[in-house]
Amino acid sequence: MILVTSANGNQGKRLIPKLLAAGHRVRACVRSDASARSLSELGVQEVLTGDLADPEFIAQAIHGVAGLYHIGPTLHRDERAIGFAMVDAARSAGVRHFVFSSVLHAITTDLIQHEIKRDIEEHLLSSGLEFTILQPANYMLPHRLKPVFEEGVFRLSWALDRYQSMVDLEDVTDVAALVLTHPADHAAATYELAAPGRFTAHDIGRVLSGVLGREIAVERIDPAAFIRARLGDLDPEELAHQLRMSGAISARYSAHDFLGNPNVLTWLLGRAPTSFEGFVRREYAAFLAA
Ligand SMILES: NC(=O)c1ccc[n+]([C@@H]2O[C@H](COP(=O)([O-])OP(=O)(O)OC[C@H]3O[C@@H](n4cnc5c(N)ncnc54)[C@H](OP(=O)(O)O)[C@@H]3O)[C@@H](O)[C@H]2O)c1
Repeated sequence: MILVTSANGNQGKRLIPKLLAAGHRVRACVRSDASARSLSELGVQEVLTGDLADPEFIAQAIHGVAGLYHIGPTLHRDERAIGFAMVDAARSAGVRHFVFSSVLHAITTDLIQHEIKRDIEEHLLSSGLEFTILQPANYMLPHRLKPVFEEGVFRLSWALDRYQSMVDLEDVTDVAALVLTHPADHAAATYELAAPGRFTAHDIGRVLSGVLGREIAVERIDPAAFIRARLGDLDPEELAHQLRMSGAISARYSAHDFLGNPNVLTWLLGRAPTSFEGFVRREYAAFLAA
């Protein structure tokens, strides 16, 4: 039995079908009944609904699993405490392999969510558990292409001339499935996962324009306005947390490039990683077919 946390998110919903296809039994943790239903419909053997910030829920989730893939929910206020509790509970329960979804350059302390992952990595390294750490670059996110396809504009919340590396979520979850299926081959490993290439927002706009065959505008947006528009009904403490995180992301990525190398991902996949252009072509074909 393999446990997956944040199981119906960007990674989880792509990973779980791969684990089931590989013959694993899967226990999935989500927060909402709607996500629980859709994972059950996928054939997940055990779906648990609860809050990862509750240590009793974590203990229940970890009981009896051989391996686990821990993904901290995006920008969660308790991400560090949840990660630490997952490691501690896994050690107490005798879990054989802890796979942690971290982030590229977790040592970057001015990115709050990176520093948190750095701390969780350290806690995991010190736990005595067998581990594998995956460090993906910025996700290629299909939902970020919606305004591109519908409005002809690509929006970014940091400087448009800074370079970033990205990675396709199908490639990340191919690696996660591989690592969870062959734990001994990937024990004590930390893998940086990045696709080839480095892209400014203008480069991204050029790729998008080429694939769509029309001019795509590139626009910088204010991170605070973006967060307020998307998550406006949050309680004030949660909103303040989100604003702090997004402000730090915008400041860091506006002052420094965020770059990774594709060698490790290429080796793990045994093929070339999905390029940004390949990702856009795939998602645009899906958009046109829908
Ligand atoms: N975005 C990027 O470019 C990037 C790059 C590298 C690393 N990362 C890191 O990747 C992680 C996020 O991965 P992801 O995008 O795959 O996950 P995600 O989409 O944020 O995960 C959402 C899932 O987490 C569940 N969830 C949220 N809060 C929960 C809680 N309190 N208790 C239990 N379940 C909860 C949700 O349940 P419901 O469906 O029921 O709501 C949903 O299934 C973050 O740590 C982020 O820092 C992101």
